[in-house]
Amino acid sequence: MKKIIKGGRVATAADVFEADILIENGKIVQLGKNLSDAGAEIIDATGKFVMPGGIDPHTHLDMPFNNTVTDDDWKSGTIAAAFGGTTTILDFCLTAGEEKLSAAVEKWHDKAKGKSAIDYGFHLMIGDLTPETEVELPQILEQEGITSVKVFMAYAKEFQATDRTLFKAFKIAKDLGAVVMVHCENGSVIDELVEEARRAGHKEPIYHALTRPAELEGEATKRAIELAHIAGATLYVVHVTCKEAVDEIIAAREKGYDVYGETCPPYLTLDQSALAQPGFEGAKYVWSPPLRPKYHQDHLWNALKAKQLQTIGSDQCSFSFKGKKQLGLNDFSKIPNGGPFIEDRFSILYSEGVAKGKISINEFVDMISTSAAKIFGLFPQKGTIAIGSDADIVIFDPEAKREISAKTHHMNVDYNPYEGWEVTGEPVSVLVRGEYVIKNKEFVGVLGSGKYIKRPLKTAATEALNI
Ligand code: URP
Ligand code: ZN
Ligand code: ZN
Ligand code: ZN
Repeated sequence: MKKIIKGGRVATAADVFEADILIENGKIVQLGKNLSDAGAEIIDATGKFVMPGGIDPHTHLDMPFNNTVTDDDWKSGTIAAAFGGTTTILDFCLTAGEEKLSAAVEKWHDKAKGKSAIDYGFHLMIGDLTPETEVELPQILEQEGITSVKVFMAYAKEFQATDRTLFKAFKIAKDLGAVVMVHCENGSVIDELVEEARRAGHKEPIYHALTRPAELEGEATKRAIELAHIAGATLYVVHVTCKEAVDEIIAAREKGYDVYGETCPPYLTLDQSALAQPGFEGAKYVWSPPLRPKYHQDHLWNALKAKQLQTIGSDQCSFSFKGKKQLGLNDFSKIPNGGPFIEDRFSILYSEGVAKGKISINEFVDMISTSAAKIFGLFPQKGTIAIGSDADIVIFDPEAKREISAKTHHMNVDYNPYEGWEVTGEPVSVLVRGEYVIKNKEFVGVLGSGKYIKRPLKTAATEALNI
């Protein structure tokens, strides 16, 4: 069935213009004033922004981590994402040791199958490469249409790779035209600081932050930058939190290195004092890298504004407070790392960024959708409103006011780090490939209708060069 979105203000990363949008077979087929088509369903967008659907480049749904599993799976996670205006997610597929990479990817396909309400792709995480997985890596990337490899320099006891593995990943990615995403913190030194704090008898959540200083994020960021540069690879630094890391990224980009950076809503809006709340409340704010003292926020906003950082990921990695977070009640180092942000990523950035005059609507669209599409090889199928693109569209009311609360959110967790915050602007309706997933703030999507998106290698890195 054809649809026409009428009367809205279309906002892309480049422009804002008044136009109707004709959608047919899941694609945008016409843009213009006063479009008419007898058979089409009319969607009235008067007074609303019409934007490309959000692309969340950083989610962990149904992921085993820290001796437990994240609380949002592909059902609750993608429904919550859709409510929040996100139409595509890129989730991290974990691999481990000797296991064949193809088996790990199959496992991830099974997690999403029949559940995802929105489109999705995978990044392939590698821990340490064995001689077998080293051979398999390029094959699986080509076969699965995966343009991004993830390596952790942190989590010494779980995911951390050696510098050698990191370097090999850069080499392999370079040859294929893939991007390497790196969690930049010095995991070995953090592990030592954590043991020191535990020996000294510290148990409280704030020690999570105190044992992961910003210098260790800056140091690892610099190391990743230089290793990527020697290998000639494209580096994407995930969840940048602090001045130290931002400065390294800016310095590298000024030298012409292919380095991109992501930050996340909490680093822009919350600070380290959240972990120091009395009782065990601080555990709600434990994720890595940790929240930083407030002055870092200006460095992140400025870097976004200057396009030195390009994207906003949710880093959705949810653990209920009364449930899984309690694993660390008597030991800060056992608090599962992660928070619930898949739903409010879009609203927080709009409200704190656009509504408060920090960024323009075009910059917003770029950060929430277009840049991620370019860096990860989804553009122009996704990430913009243009003829021929998928009709992944958010109809957004810029005047709406909404209070964030765990009582009303759709994520499968019992708390929201933004509890009680009033945000300006709200997605009203959300379409994925021309089909409603959210209609007038109600979920009307179909679980399992989300499509796995294969992405072309080579184009990812070259599109990224254009931003
Ligand atoms: O604490 C976090 N961020 N949990 C998810 C894993 C990661 O480091 O991205
Ligand atoms: Zn990480
Ligand atoms: Zn103490
Ligand atoms: Zn993450």
